[in-house]
Amino acid sequence: MSDGRTAGPSSPSAVGRRRDPFAPLLDNPLAARLREHDRLGAGTHAVPTGGAPEAITVYGDGRKRVNLGSNNYLGLAGDPRVIEAAVDALRQYGSSTAGSRVLNGTTRLHLTLEVELADHYGTEAAVLTSSGVNANLALLSTACGPDDVLLVDAHAHASVHAGAGASRGTVVRFRHNSVESLAQRLERLDPQAGAVVAVDGVYSMTGELAPLAEIAELCDRFGARLVVDEAHGLGVLGAQGRGAVERTGVLDRVDAVTVAFSKSLASVGGAVLTSRAVAEGIRASAVPYVFSAANDPASVGAALAALRLLRSEPERRERLRGNGELLRAELAAAGAEPVPGRGAVIAVPTGDEEVTADAWRRAYDAGVYVNAVAYPAVPRGKGVLRLSVMATHTAEHLRYAAEVVVDAVRAATEAAEPTAQPEVVDVPTPRVGETLPAVA
Ligand SMILES: Cc1ncc(COP(=O)(O)O)c(C=O)c1O
Repeated sequence: MSDGRTAGPSSPSAVGRRRDPFAPLLDNPLAARLREHDRLGAGTHAVPTGGAPEAITVYGDGRKRVNLGSNNYLGLAGDPRVIEAAVDALRQYGSSTAGSRVLNGTTRLHLTLEVELADHYGTEAAVLTSSGVNANLALLSTACGPDDVLLVDAHAHASVHAGAGASRGTVVRFRHNSVESLAQRLERLDPQAGAVVAVDGVYSMTGELAPLAEIAELCDRFGARLVVDEAHGLGVLGAQGRGAVERTGVLDRVDAVTVAFSKSLASVGGAVLTSRAVAEGIRASAVPYVFSAANDPASVGAALAALRLLRSEPERRERLRGNGELLRAELAAAGAEPVPGRGAVIAVPTGDEEVTADAWRRAYDAGVYVNAVAYPAVPRGKGVLRLSVMATHTAEHLRYAAEVVVDAVRAATEAAEPTAQPEVVDVPTPRVGETLPAVA
């Protein structure tokens, strides 16, 4: 019986005191580390913006910074034509499709975007998904069966690994970008097994390219299918902007390409470009396609407008390439050699997590926003500042940013170096048969 001081079972305070069975999740070491960074004022993640991700972006604190931390590679996310197309789609089709593609969620706009994407890649089909993550999940979970072995580059995007894990096949990792490691694994396969090799065309955290010509060669030799994630290649690499698959001349030897609209296409969503057979499989049974609401009309409208601009304004790609080369050269000249790569993503090594966070903060305070990348996005101790160029950056933006980033990394590295010299212990030379005292 209640004595008037104890809250009854349905009162809010009783609910507040209820033991949370999920509380042990707070012990997650990565979550704890993020909390600690926030507590120390060194948080580098989820920094709010107050405007579109343009070359110069307004941040949540009201300050403008050079934005080298967005994937708006072609600079189309703030383009009036793309915004207008999104608004038109919103007006015509409403704010939501309110259903799956297989029920009520297909608009004429979805179909048009699929036709134009398939045309751009020269594939039989394109299937839209509501994100780039879902493109990889839909493809790999559906196209690979129990007799397949999926050979996945160790550094492929998390969604490639998740898609492989969600398939009924056996997943085998090979060493990042190592043709030798892939060949060894292919050689060991049971000849009855079906092999599927899955890689990123451009690695998102470092900007490295996959050695696609050699990988395609191996796939031909071993009869393996090849799947390439072109999230960071679309609109950036290749004469027509089709990505690393085009740049390396392997497009017609690839079985499926996945793309994300959240980079060059200034929107959100994804697609699988592939054969009619694989597309039909996805449309029939992929969970992210069948059981999830269709992409919202505004996103489809924006992506379609951006795709048309990507194709009709090749000069954007040229400017983007020039900007990438300029920033790489400026960084190298100032002593911060970036990770070798090509394209819009440029990674400056920082190593230790604390150095990465400190360098990020210094750059941010000096007016340059970049991405601080640490474990688990990269291996432990291999942190980088990730800089992503846009077609709309000017040479002045990039020169200023290079200077700021190089200074920030240098200062953070020096600040992390131990200042006290290690104590020199005079260890006497032992005489034969004598044991030295322990040196602490
Ligand atoms: C290589 C790669 N694939 C897929 C994705 C997922 O794209 P989305 O953000 O559209 O889900 C990303 C996102 O950053 C990526 O870098």
